[in-house]
Amino acid sequence: MPRDKHGHLTPGRVSPMRAVPRTIDRPEYVGRVEPSPYAGGDVYEHDEIELIRESGRIAADAIAAVGVAVRPGATTDDLDAIGHEFVVAAGAYPSCLGYRGFPKSVCTSVNEVICHGIPDDTVLEAGDIINIDITAFKNGMHGDSNMTFTVGEPTPQVSDLVTRTAESLRRGMKAVAPGRQINVIGRAIESYAKRFGYGVVRDFTGHGVGRAFHSGLVIPHYDAAPAFDTVIQHGMVFTIEPMLTLGTADWDMWDDGWTVTTKDKSITAQFEHTMVVTDRGVDILTLP
Ligand code: MF3
Ligand code: CO
Ligand code: CO
Repeated sequence: MPRDKHGHLTPGRVSPMRAVPRTIDRPEYVGRVEPSPYAGGDVYEHDEIELIRESGRIAADAIAAVGVAVRPGATTDDLDAIGHEFVVAAGAYPSCLGYRGFPKSVCTSVNEVICHGIPDDTVLEAGDIINIDITAFKNGMHGDSNMTFTVGEPTPQVSDLVTRTAESLRRGMKAVAPGRQINVIGRAIESYAKRFGYGVVRDFTGHGVGRAFHSGLVIPHYDAAPAFDTVIQHGMVFTIEPMLTLGTADWDMWDDGWTVTTKDKSITAQFEHTMVVTDRGVDILTLP
């Protein structure tokens, strides 16, 4: 099984690509090397927002369905199958499948994996944590969300990391208001994370989402001021998805070109929502 003698994860066996019924619309990048450049903006009209909400709800419901199956003995490939079938049954395309060559429908990131873990024959063990990241594409719109689940009972240090990472997302969302700069979000997240000495991952960020999976708008999770001074506008749609670690924010990438781990192999957690900016704050579009 894919763990080394220290219990650290190693690459496992990836199962064949899952099928999507022909009746389900694919994003334009499927079957291509990369998405075509996105020319549209990040501000959406009411009707478009309701479509993003529909995709976002499918993603959220799929994550919950996968969460029910998270237990010792399950493989990350088992979880991918559940997420894939859920999204497809809802008439949506699992946006990760075939995105820049990603081979699976769900990102499954265990323990020291920061993000973009590829589902394989890794077997979950009591004391692990696992992030489930699912994006659904329907009616031309993507909705992107993730959550970290515990397997059995992790140590108090690890379960605190998980609850505080969820809280950091809440604080980042609370900082959003039209007229403020994008960099207020990361300031709120980082100042909270710093209280506990957590590492705040800088090189993977939130992003504009909707018609494009990643629009080009970047949302840092650290205090990036005076950079990232884009003014937040009413109707803007983006994700916030902080990754916090028990060690430093330095990372490594596996030879698969996707799996990002902490360099120091410290445990790391993440939570993500897609949201739209309202006149007062945000309306979360990835709720069940
Ligand atoms: N859902 C991830 C995000 O939050 C992106 C995953 S890209 C994939 O932006 F190709 F790894 F699936
Ligand atoms: Co995202
Ligand atoms: Co995501």
